[in-house]
Amino acid sequence: MVQSDVKEGNPKGKRRRKYIPGLACLKFVPDEYWSPEEAQRLYEGPPHSPVRQDTICFEDCIGGMERMPPESVDLVVADPPFGIDFSGKESVYNRNGDLVVDSYHEIDADYGEFTEQWMASLQKVMKPHATAYVFSGWNHLEDVLRGARLSGLTTINHIIWKYQFGVFTKKKYVTSHYHVLLLAKDPNKYYFNKIEHYPLDVWDINRKYKAGEVKNGTTLPLEVVRQCIEFSSKPGDLVFDPFMGMGTTAVAAKSVWRRFFGFERNELMQPVIEERIDSVTPGQDYTTLQELRRKNIEKAKEKYPLAVKYLTKAGVRIDAES
Ligand SMILES: C[S@@+](CC[C@H](N)C(=O)[O-])C[C@H]1O[C@@H](n2cnc3c(N)ncnc32)[C@H](O)[C@@H]1O
Repeated sequence: MVQSDVKEGNPKGKRRRKYIPGLACLKFVPDEYWSPEEAQRLYEGPPHSPVRQDTICFEDCIGGMERMPPESVDLVVADPPFGIDFSGKESVYNRNGDLVVDSYHEIDADYGEFTEQWMASLQKVMKPHATAYVFSGWNHLEDVLRGARLSGLTTINHIIWKYQFGVFTKKKYVTSHYHVLLLAKDPNKYYFNKIEHYPLDVWDINRKYKAGEVKNGTTLPLEVVRQCIEFSSKPGDLVFDPFMGMGTTAVAAKSVWRRFFGFERNELMQPVIEERIDSVTPGQDYTTLQELRRKNIEKAKEKYPLAVKYLTKAGVRIDAES
């Protein structure tokens, strides 16, 4: 809580502090920040993991994780298959079938058992300070929460990601949200860099539909994955995705000076993923401190006009450079 030095009427003439909401938000600077040069140095420096970095293996992730060195990844972004018969439904997603890569792989086994298995393997490859962001639709949320509990991971946040449209329905509400669980291997040690003063557990981020681009129908927006990476890892860290799909995690990691590793069962995705990864240069979307401050200030200005008025009156500059 930041308080102003405004003197309020009080009989003894003592200086009492008046609370002005939003001041802390306007002055906020993250605890940890690396300049683009420092971030690049960390990215190009000694690897943070014995795993072969910037690699995607086209195989089943459960077998693959069993062969990975234990405690080798800094952060996990996992968007497992939906557990619904997705193929054939592309038309309801308003997508051109010719542009959807074939054989999106659904799971053959029972969803609960599959979830239990991959999450148990995942827990082993996470470093003690690592966290995992696991995406789930509401239909299998129970399985994912159970898998997390059985694997020994602790739920730190239950985030709702809201997007702008869902599949049209006739006799029920249209689903336009996802669940994102933030799970920690050790709830007392996990890494979290609060780069915003007041980061909410509801994310309002639109899905982008880009006409004419090849896709597998399930791609996450880069912005959503970048948010996970920027809050929960450092430059040069290894970000692991057991279900790479179109390679969004790899692209997001590379674009903000992080390394990546992952699995994808569908070999047909390889050329599409490689093209996407090659299309970005390392660090191209890394957020500078000024940009971070500007974003925070814009939000705070909208929410706390009184704090803006107070600082302006006091002659305090409110901009990203101050
Ligand atoms: C929901 S999609 C991931 C989409 C991804 N987040 C993106 O933005 O492109 C799930 C992916 O997991 C793959 N998959 C399914 N079972 C798998 C397994 N056992 N091991 C590795 N990949 C698997 C599917 O082929 C599919 O591409």
